[in-house]
Amino acid sequence: VSRGHGVKGLAELGLKTLPYQYIQPQQERFDSCINADAHHESIPLIDMSKSDDDDDSKVAEAVCNAAQKWGFFQIVNHGVPLHVLEDVKDAIHRFFGLPAEEKVKYSKQQSVTNNVRYGTSFTPAAENALEWKDYLSLLYVSDDDASSFWPSICRNQALEFMRSSEIIVKKLLGILMNGLNVKEIDETKESMLMGSKRINLNYYPVCPNPELTVGVGRHSDVSTLTVLLQDDIGGLYVRDTETMKWFSVAPVSGSLVINVGDALQIMSNGKYKSVEHRVSANGSHNRISVPIFVNPKASDIIGPFKEVLQSGEKPIYKHLLYSDYVKHFFRKAHDGKATIDFAK
Ligand code: SIN
Ligand code: FE2
Repeated sequence: VSRGHGVKGLAELGLKTLPYQYIQPQQERFDSCINADAHHESIPLIDMSKSDDDDDSKVAEAVCNAAQKWGFFQIVNHGVPLHVLEDVKDAIHRFFGLPAEEKVKYSKQQSVTNNVRYGTSFTPAAENALEWKDYLSLLYVSDDDASSFWPSICRNQALEFMRSSEIIVKKLLGILMNGLNVKEIDETKESMLMGSKRINLNYYPVCPNPELTVGVGRHSDVSTLTVLLQDDIGGLYVRDTETMKWFSVAPVSGSLVINVGDALQIMSNGKYKSVEHRVSANGSHNRISVPIFVNPKASDIIGPFKEVLQSGEKPIYKHLLYSDYVKHFFRKAHDGKATIDFAK
Protein backbone atom coordinates (compact mmCIF):
# COMPACT_ATOMS: atom_id res chain seq x y z
CA VAL A 1 0.00 0.00 0.00
CA SER A 2 1.52 3.31 -1.03
CA ARG A 3 1.08 6.65 0.67
CA GLY A 4 -1.53 7.52 -1.93
CA HIS A 5 -3.86 5.03 -0.26
CA GLY A 6 -3.62 7.04 2.97
CA VAL A 7 -4.30 5.63 6.40
CA LYS A 8 -7.71 4.65 5.08
CA GLY A 9 -5.92 2.26 2.73
CA LEU A 10 -3.92 0.87 5.66
CA ALA A 11 -7.02 0.47 7.81
CA GLU A 12 -8.76 -1.41 5.03
CA LEU A 13 -5.95 -3.97 4.85
CA GLY A 14 -7.31 -5.16 8.19
CA LEU A 15 -4.01 -4.60 10.01
CA LYS A 16 -3.93 -6.04 13.50
CA THR A 17 -1.07 -3.83 14.62
CA LEU A 18 -0.03 -0.28 13.90
CA PRO A 19 2.87 0.15 11.41
CA TYR A 20 5.91 1.39 13.34
CA GLN A 21 6.02 4.69 11.40
CA TYR A 22 2.92 5.80 13.31
CA ILE A 23 4.18 5.02 16.81
CA GLN A 24 4.36 8.30 18.69
CA PRO A 25 6.75 9.00 21.58
CA GLN A 26 5.22 8.18 24.96
CA GLN A 27 4.58 11.79 25.95
CA GLU A 28 2.47 12.45 22.85
CA ARG A 29 0.15 9.49 23.39
CA PHE A 30 -3.28 9.83 24.87
CA ASP A 31 -2.89 7.42 27.78
CA SER A 32 -1.07 10.15 29.66
CA CYS A 33 -3.95 12.59 29.33
CA ILE A 34 -6.64 13.34 31.86
CA ASN A 35 -10.06 13.35 30.31
CA ALA A 36 -12.62 15.98 31.01
CA ASP A 37 -15.24 14.61 33.34
CA ALA A 38 -18.45 15.76 34.90
CA HIS A 39 -16.54 17.39 37.75
CA HIS A 40 -14.57 19.67 35.51
CA GLU A 41 -15.76 22.73 33.73
CA SER A 42 -15.05 22.36 30.01
CA ILE A 43 -15.22 24.68 27.02
CA PRO A 44 -18.38 26.81 26.99
CA LEU A 45 -21.44 26.09 24.89
CA ILE A 46 -22.99 29.34 23.69
CA ASP A 47 -26.50 29.75 22.29
CA MET A 48 -26.16 32.35 19.53
CA SER A 49 -29.91 32.77 19.07
CA LYS A 50 -29.92 34.72 22.31
CA SER A 51 -28.02 37.49 20.58
CA ASP A 52 -31.09 38.83 18.79
CA ASP A 53 -32.82 40.15 21.89
CA ASP A 54 -32.01 41.67 25.27
CA ASP A 55 -29.37 39.03 25.89
CA ASP A 56 -27.14 40.47 23.18
CA SER A 57 -24.49 41.72 25.56
CA LYS A 58 -24.53 38.48 27.53
CA VAL A 59 -23.70 36.50 24.41
CA ALA A 60 -20.95 38.97 23.53
CA GLU A 61 -19.52 38.64 27.02
CA ALA A 62 -19.63 34.85 26.86
CA VAL A 63 -17.84 34.85 23.49
CA CYS A 64 -15.10 37.24 24.64
CA ASN A 65 -14.61 35.41 27.93
CA ALA A 66 -14.35 32.07 26.16
CA ALA A 67 -11.83 33.48 23.67
CA GLN A 68 -9.71 34.76 26.56
CA LYS A 69 -9.88 31.79 28.88
CA TRP A 70 -10.24 28.75 26.61
CA GLY A 71 -9.61 30.00 23.10
CA PHE A 72 -12.36 27.51 22.26
CA PHE A 73 -16.15 27.36 22.50
CA GLN A 74 -19.06 25.59 20.88
CA ILE A 75 -22.05 27.39 19.42
CA VAL A 76 -25.62 26.30 18.76
CA ASN A 77 -28.37 28.17 16.90
CA HIS A 78 -25.57 29.60 14.77
CA GLY A 79 -27.68 30.09 11.66
CA VAL A 80 -25.95 27.48 9.50
CA PRO A 81 -28.80 25.20 8.40
CA LEU A 82 -28.46 21.70 9.84
CA HIS A 83 -28.97 20.11 6.41
CA VAL A 84 -25.87 21.95 5.19
CA LEU A 85 -23.88 20.28 7.97
CA GLU A 86 -25.33 16.87 7.15
CA ASP A 87 -24.67 17.35 3.43
CA VAL A 88 -21.00 18.20 3.89
CA LYS A 89 -20.47 15.21 6.19
CA ASP A 90 -22.06 12.90 3.60
CA ALA A 91 -19.91 14.45 0.88
CA ILE A 92 -16.72 13.73 2.84
CA HIS A 93 -17.65 10.09 3.23
CA ARG A 94 -18.24 9.99 -0.51
CA PHE A 95 -14.88 11.59 -1.33
CA PHE A 96 -12.87 9.30 0.92
CA GLY A 97 -14.92 6.36 -0.36
CA LEU A 98 -13.49 6.93 -3.84
CA PRO A 99 -10.88 4.43 -5.10
CA ALA A 100 -7.31 5.46 -4.21
CA GLU A 101 -6.47 6.13 -7.87
CA GLU A 102 -9.20 8.79 -7.98
CA LYS A 103 -8.05 10.49 -4.77
CA VAL A 104 -4.36 10.58 -5.72
CA LYS A 105 -5.28 12.82 -8.63
CA TYR A 106 -5.45 15.53 -5.95
CA SER A 107 -2.15 14.65 -4.26
CA LYS A 108 0.87 16.95 -4.22
CA GLN A 109 2.47 14.86 -6.96
CA GLN A 110 -0.51 14.86 -9.31
CA SER A 111 -2.72 17.83 -8.47
CA VAL A 112 -2.93 20.40 -11.26
CA THR A 113 -3.33 23.17 -8.68
CA ASN A 114 -1.81 24.06 -5.32
CA ASN A 115 -5.27 25.07 -4.11
CA VAL A 116 -6.41 21.45 -3.84
CA ARG A 117 -4.38 18.96 -1.84
CA TYR A 118 -5.16 15.36 -0.85
CA GLY A 119 -2.72 14.01 1.69
CA THR A 120 -2.07 12.00 4.79
CA SER A 121 -0.52 12.86 8.18
CA PHE A 122 0.59 16.54 8.48
CA THR A 123 4.11 17.04 7.15
CA PRO A 124 5.22 13.42 6.51
CA ALA A 125 8.63 14.52 5.25
CA ALA A 126 9.42 16.38 8.49
CA GLU A 127 7.76 14.07 11.01
CA ASN A 128 9.51 11.55 13.22
CA ALA A 129 6.19 9.77 13.71
CA LEU A 130 3.24 9.96 11.34
CA GLU A 131 -0.31 10.92 12.28
CA TRP A 132 -3.35 8.72 11.70
CA LYS A 133 -5.30 11.05 9.40
CA ASP A 134 -6.10 11.61 5.72
CA TYR A 135 -7.34 14.95 4.42
CA LEU A 136 -8.44 16.98 1.44
CA SER A 137 -7.47 20.63 1.80
CA LEU A 138 -9.26 23.21 -0.35
CA LEU A 139 -8.07 26.80 -0.57
CA TYR A 140 -10.94 29.05 -1.60
CA VAL A 141 -9.90 31.50 -4.30
CA SER A 142 -13.14 32.05 -6.23
CA ASP A 143 -16.26 30.16 -7.22
CA ASP A 144 -14.80 29.69 -10.70
CA ASP A 145 -11.61 28.20 -9.31
CA ALA A 146 -13.61 25.86 -7.09
CA SER A 147 -15.81 24.80 -10.02
CA SER A 148 -12.76 24.02 -12.10
CA PHE A 149 -10.58 22.26 -9.55
CA TRP A 150 -12.39 21.03 -6.44
CA PRO A 151 -13.53 17.39 -6.70
CA SER A 152 -17.10 17.47 -7.98
CA ILE A 153 -18.13 14.76 -5.50
CA CYS A 154 -17.89 17.20 -2.56
CA ARG A 155 -17.48 20.65 -4.14
CA ASN A 156 -20.96 22.10 -3.75
CA GLN A 157 -21.39 20.84 -0.21
CA ALA A 158 -18.04 22.27 0.92
CA LEU A 159 -18.82 25.60 -0.78
CA GLU A 160 -22.28 25.73 0.77
CA PHE A 161 -20.86 25.15 4.26
CA MET A 162 -18.30 27.90 3.71
CA ARG A 163 -20.87 30.34 2.38
CA SER A 164 -23.51 29.72 4.99
CA SER A 165 -21.02 30.12 7.84
CA GLU A 166 -20.05 33.60 6.70
CA ILE A 167 -22.70 35.46 8.69
CA ILE A 168 -21.79 33.84 11.99
CA VAL A 169 -18.08 34.36 11.32
CA LYS A 170 -18.67 38.08 10.78
CA LYS A 171 -20.85 38.28 13.86
CA LEU A 172 -18.22 36.55 16.04
CA LEU A 173 -15.37 38.66 14.70
CA GLY A 174 -17.44 41.81 15.29
CA ILE A 175 -18.03 40.78 18.90
CA LEU A 176 -14.37 39.90 19.42
CA MET A 177 -13.19 43.19 17.90
CA ASN A 178 -15.58 45.11 20.11
CA GLY A 179 -13.98 43.35 23.06
CA LEU A 180 -10.63 44.78 21.94
CA ASN A 181 -12.03 48.27 21.55
CA VAL A 182 -11.74 47.97 17.77
CA LYS A 183 -14.89 49.81 16.78
CA GLU A 184 -14.44 50.05 13.05
CA ILE A 185 -13.42 47.22 10.75
CA ASP A 186 -11.95 49.01 7.73
CA GLU A 187 -10.76 47.28 4.58
CA THR A 188 -7.27 46.56 5.91
CA LYS A 189 -8.63 45.02 9.09
CA GLU A 190 -11.28 43.06 7.21
CA SER A 191 -8.53 41.51 5.09
CA MET A 192 -6.38 40.72 8.14
CA LEU A 193 -9.34 39.13 9.88
CA MET A 194 -10.94 37.19 7.05
CA GLY A 195 -9.13 37.89 3.79
CA SER A 196 -8.85 34.25 2.81
CA LYS A 197 -10.41 30.91 3.59
CA ARG A 198 -9.45 27.28 3.51
CA ILE A 199 -11.68 24.29 4.17
CA ASN A 200 -10.26 20.90 5.14
CA LEU A 201 -12.08 17.61 4.95
CA ASN A 202 -10.48 15.31 7.54
CA TYR A 203 -10.85 11.55 7.69
CA TYR A 204 -9.70 9.46 10.68
CA PRO A 205 -10.17 5.73 10.08
CA VAL A 206 -10.56 3.30 12.96
CA CYS A 207 -7.03 2.53 14.17
CA PRO A 208 -5.71 -0.88 15.29
CA ASN A 209 -3.56 0.58 18.13
CA PRO A 210 -4.95 4.00 19.00
CA GLU A 211 -3.05 3.99 22.30
CA LEU A 212 0.24 4.24 20.39
CA THR A 213 -0.52 7.07 18.00
CA VAL A 214 -2.50 10.29 17.42
CA GLY A 215 -5.08 11.44 14.90
CA VAL A 216 -3.53 14.92 15.00
CA GLY A 217 -0.64 15.95 17.21
CA ARG A 218 -0.55 18.97 19.53
CA HIS A 219 -0.77 22.23 17.63
CA SER A 220 -2.53 25.54 17.50
CA ASP A 221 -4.13 26.84 14.29
CA VAL A 222 -2.51 29.60 12.25
CA SER A 223 -5.93 31.08 11.42
CA THR A 224 -7.78 34.09 12.75
CA LEU A 225 -10.74 31.92 13.68
CA THR A 226 -11.49 28.29 12.91
CA VAL A 227 -15.04 27.02 12.50
CA LEU A 228 -15.05 23.27 13.02
CA LEU A 229 -17.74 20.75 12.30
CA GLN A 230 -17.14 17.37 13.92
CA ASP A 231 -19.32 14.31 13.72
CA ASP A 232 -20.59 12.35 16.74
CA ILE A 233 -17.50 10.13 17.24
CA GLY A 234 -15.45 12.49 19.41
CA GLY A 235 -11.69 12.63 19.87
CA LEU A 236 -10.88 16.35 19.91
CA TYR A 237 -9.02 17.54 23.01
CA VAL A 238 -8.20 21.08 24.08
CA ARG A 239 -5.55 22.15 26.58
CA ASP A 240 -6.58 24.33 29.49
CA THR A 241 -4.17 27.27 29.47
CA GLU A 242 -4.12 27.46 33.29
CA THR A 243 -3.83 23.86 34.45
CA MET A 244 -2.31 22.52 31.18
CA LYS A 245 -4.76 19.62 31.47
CA TRP A 246 -6.50 18.21 28.41
CA PHE A 247 -10.26 18.46 28.05
CA SER A 248 -12.34 16.57 25.54
CA VAL A 249 -14.68 18.55 23.31
CA ALA A 250 -17.77 16.40 23.51
CA PRO A 251 -19.70 16.34 20.24
CA VAL A 252 -22.95 18.30 20.50
CA SER A 253 -25.34 17.52 17.69
CA GLY A 254 -25.87 20.51 15.37
CA SER A 255 -23.15 22.58 17.03
CA LEU A 256 -20.01 24.15 15.62
CA VAL A 257 -16.72 24.40 17.47
CA ILE A 258 -15.07 27.82 17.23
CA ASN A 259 -11.45 28.44 18.10
CA VAL A 260 -9.09 31.37 18.10
CA GLY A 261 -6.02 30.92 15.89
CA ASP A 262 -2.49 32.32 16.16
CA ALA A 263 -3.26 35.28 13.86
CA LEU A 264 -5.94 36.54 16.25
CA GLN A 265 -3.73 35.90 19.28
CA ILE A 266 -1.12 38.10 17.59
CA MET A 267 -3.58 40.82 16.54
CA SER A 268 -5.08 40.92 20.03
CA ASN A 269 -1.57 41.06 21.56
CA GLY A 270 -2.22 37.87 23.49
CA LYS A 271 -5.63 38.77 24.89
CA TYR A 272 -7.41 36.07 22.90
CA LYS A 273 -5.72 32.67 23.19
CA SER A 274 -4.88 30.34 20.35
CA VAL A 275 -4.89 27.12 22.31
CA GLU A 276 -3.20 23.78 21.79
CA HIS A 277 -5.46 20.98 20.68
CA ARG A 278 -5.10 17.46 19.31
CA VAL A 279 -7.14 14.51 18.14
CA SER A 280 -7.00 10.94 19.40
CA ALA A 281 -7.16 7.95 17.08
CA ASN A 282 -9.45 5.90 19.30
CA GLY A 283 -12.76 6.41 17.53
CA SER A 284 -15.12 3.43 17.49
CA HIS A 285 -15.98 4.32 13.88
CA ASN A 286 -14.25 6.26 11.12
CA ARG A 287 -14.37 9.90 12.18
CA ILE A 288 -14.65 13.01 10.02
CA SER A 289 -14.22 16.67 10.80
CA VAL A 290 -14.42 19.84 8.70
CA PRO A 291 -12.49 22.91 9.80
CA ILE A 292 -12.99 26.18 7.93
CA PHE A 293 -9.89 28.27 8.50
CA VAL A 294 -10.73 31.96 8.36
CA ASN A 295 -7.33 33.53 7.66
CA PRO A 296 -5.62 36.80 6.84
CA LYS A 297 -4.62 37.19 3.19
CA ALA A 298 -1.19 35.72 2.47
CA SER A 299 0.12 39.17 1.53
CA ASP A 300 -1.14 40.89 4.72
CA ILE A 301 1.25 42.18 7.34
CA ILE A 302 -0.19 41.11 10.67
CA GLY A 303 0.65 42.38 14.14
CA PRO A 304 -1.02 43.71 17.30
CA PHE A 305 -3.79 46.24 16.51
CA LYS A 306 -3.03 49.79 17.55
CA GLU A 307 -6.33 49.97 19.48
CA VAL A 308 -5.09 47.17 21.71
CA LEU A 309 -1.84 49.00 22.47
CA GLN A 310 -3.53 52.36 23.05
CA SER A 311 -3.39 52.05 26.80
CA GLY A 312 0.39 51.79 26.68
CA GLU A 313 0.48 47.99 26.61
CA LYS A 314 3.80 46.68 25.22
CA PRO A 315 3.50 44.70 21.98
CA ILE A 316 4.32 41.01 22.57
CA TYR A 317 4.45 40.29 18.85
CA LYS A 318 6.13 41.99 15.93
CA HIS A 319 4.56 42.71 12.56
CA LEU A 320 5.20 40.06 9.96
CA LEU A 321 4.06 38.85 6.57
CA TYR A 322 1.29 36.31 7.07
CA SER A 323 2.58 33.99 4.34
CA ASP A 324 5.96 33.81 6.15
CA TYR A 325 4.17 32.75 9.30
CA VAL A 326 2.21 30.05 7.48
CA LYS A 327 5.35 28.79 5.72
CA HIS A 328 7.07 28.46 9.07
CA PHE A 329 4.15 26.39 10.40
CA PHE A 330 4.18 23.98 7.45
CA ARG A 331 7.94 23.48 7.47
CA LYS A 332 7.94 21.32 10.57
CA ALA A 333 5.97 18.61 12.33
CA HIS A 334 3.21 19.56 14.77
CA ASP A 335 4.96 21.12 17.71
CA GLY A 336 2.45 22.51 20.18
CA LYS A 337 2.55 26.28 20.47
CA ALA A 338 6.08 26.67 19.11
CA THR A 339 5.04 28.42 15.88
CA ILE A 340 3.98 31.62 17.59
CA ASP A 341 7.51 32.26 18.91
CA PHE A 342 8.31 33.07 15.28
CA ALA A 343 6.22 36.25 15.74
CA LYS A 344 8.03 37.38 18.89
C1 SIN B 1 -7.37 19.83 13.83
O1 SIN B 1 -7.44 20.67 14.71
O2 SIN B 1 -6.37 19.76 13.10
C2 SIN B 1 -8.48 18.85 13.62
C3 SIN B 1 -9.60 18.98 14.58
C4 SIN B 1 -10.55 17.83 14.52
O3 SIN B 1 -10.44 16.92 13.70
O4 SIN B 1 -11.48 17.79 15.36
FE1 FE2 C 1 -6.38 22.54 14.56
